[in-house]
Amino acid sequence: MLEQRYFRDILGQFTTGVVLVTTQTPRGLTGMAFNSFTSVSLNPPLVALCAAHTSSTWPHIRAAGEFAVSILGEGQEELCKTFSTHGAERFAGHAWERTHAGHPVPADTLGWLDCRIETIYQAGDHELVVAEAVEGAVTDSGGPLVFHGGRITALPA
Ligand SMILES: Cc1cc2nc3c(=O)[nH]c(=O)nc-3n(C[C@H](O)[C@H](O)[C@H](O)COP(=O)(O)O)c2cc1C
Repeated sequence: MLEQRYFRDILGQFTTGVVLVTTQTPRGLTGMAFNSFTSVSLNPPLVALCAAHTSSTWPHIRAAGEFAVSILGEGQEELCKTFSTHGAERFAGHAWERTHAGHPVPADTLGWLDCRIETIYQAGDHELVVAEAVEGAVTDSGGPLVFHGGRITALPA
């Protein structure tokens, strides 16, 4: 069996983008950073992400049943850190806009999707969440924020 640290090191060789998953709940705004986001199906439009059982934020998003995905751009490292730090005040100190469904997205996001949770599969220590994308927009043409080798960075110029 693969040793966990080595498994993570191998996966770190695979470069991903970073998204924020945010939602409006009856108790206020909530959200967290994900790199396990991926497209799944074009027709119907489906996306997926994996949420750790240890996350204290994910159960609130799951209970809401819907969320916005915002794709982070270069220069948004701090926003990513805030949205991955347990207990951080996540929505202070940044400009936010609302999606059609009313979820908050950073004003400078590269693009966003409004999603409705369709199916959740239990998968080891994570939940594999499949959601339908119901609305969305491309909002900026800048470069992406990328996650590689455990580092949050921009693409080399
Ligand atoms: C670049 C990056 C990618 C992340 N991707 C995921 C992910 O795909 N799934 C996940 O459950 N947590 C992921 N996290 C960690 C969560 O964002 C973090 O554990 C969570 O926000 C902690 O706060 P919470 O306990 O309030 O949920 C990622 C963190 C970073 C910095």
